[in-house]
Amino acid sequence: MNDRATMVPRPRLMDRYREWLPVTDATPRLSLGEGGTPLVRTERLGARYGLRNLHVKVEGMNPTGSFKDRGMVVAVAKAIEGGARSIICASTGNTSASAAAYGAAAGLEVVVLLPKGAIAAGKLLQALVAGARVVAVDGNFDAALSVVRALAERDDHPISLVNSVNPHRLAGQKTAAFEICDDLGRAPDILAIPVGNAGNISAYGAGFTDYAMAGIVERRPRMLGFQAAGAAPLVLGRPVDRPETIATAIRIGNPASWTLATAARDESGGRIEAVTDDEILAAYRDVASEEGIFCEPSSAASLAGVAKLARAGELDPDATIVAVLTGNGLKDPHTAEAAVGDRILEAASSVDGVRAALGW
Ligand code: F0G
Repeated sequence: MNDRATMVPRPRLMDRYREWLPVTDATPRLSLGEGGTPLVRTERLGARYGLRNLHVKVEGMNPTGSFKDRGMVVAVAKAIEGGARSIICASTGNTSASAAAYGAAAGLEVVVLLPKGAIAAGKLLQALVAGARVVAVDGNFDAALSVVRALAERDDHPISLVNSVNPHRLAGQKTAAFEICDDLGRAPDILAIPVGNAGNISAYGAGFTDYAMAGIVERRPRMLGFQAAGAAPLVLGRPVDRPETIATAIRIGNPASWTLATAARDESGGRIEAVTDDEILAAYRDVASEEGIFCEPSSAASLAGVAKLARAGELDPDATIVAVLTGNGLKDPHTAEAAVGDRILEAASSVDGVRAALGW
């Protein structure tokens, strides 16, 4: 029997890291159980990539299946504190799923703008089932973001913007960096992360800096950001007009947090590089088949980058590396189907039939 006295309730994210967040006594205690996601030390995948200390941070375990919940809970709570009745965002799918869920829980009107036809099926359904007003715009994410920014500035229909240009989003997303340090008892040597609108890499950079400044960790990790090759403005050093990649979550040509992200890279001695769609899909299959972790394709950009640098001999095999897996694989069944092909064996419903199908 466990000693009841040692069994403490699971803390809410905003309570656990309250001193680092813009939370006051007037901030509503909103929570769907976000944060506290697993940090998994990979054995088989690490061995495959020649790395002895490779971990993954499984952000797909958040309530709506992505890291967005960490920032959304803070942004929505602060919006309510400020008297908002409606929230709006543009999204490649995960921000909208998260805004829809937290907005529903808080009884707010939620409006989401999505690039038409370019959203993974699960993400679109999450927003619809939660009752958000979904507008599919004839344009990409960058165009949708500029429209919602303009809408949020108007006075005729007050609405609170919950994209990552809202500083409360990035404040909440910092908590993932805190959790990694708390779980490891130190900062990792390297933090690998997919980069789209570039908010998350900026938030992790700020989180590691907060802990280092407070003396909780000795050093900050090197930040390695990875963009999809067809949508790699930070690698090219200029916006991309028509971003293209199967990793639809990071199909972004003009990241809003450009300056913050390049600062996080440079202050940590890190890099932002590109990985191809084939490299992303290979890592997506590797982490599922070697570790049992089903992440969404965009998430696998972090591992694809680690695998590529490891192959090139650019990573110390003993370095403590954390790759962030930003979202859950269940969100994007179509990419999964295409990645595995037709692998289903057919059999008569009998022992002999199944034995024959398996070739036993
Ligand atoms: N991974 C996933 C699964 C994402 O959904 C996103 C961004 C990123 C990585 C990149 O993070 O934008 O902070 O650099 N998704 C946003 C959205 C754009 O609308 O859901 P970032």
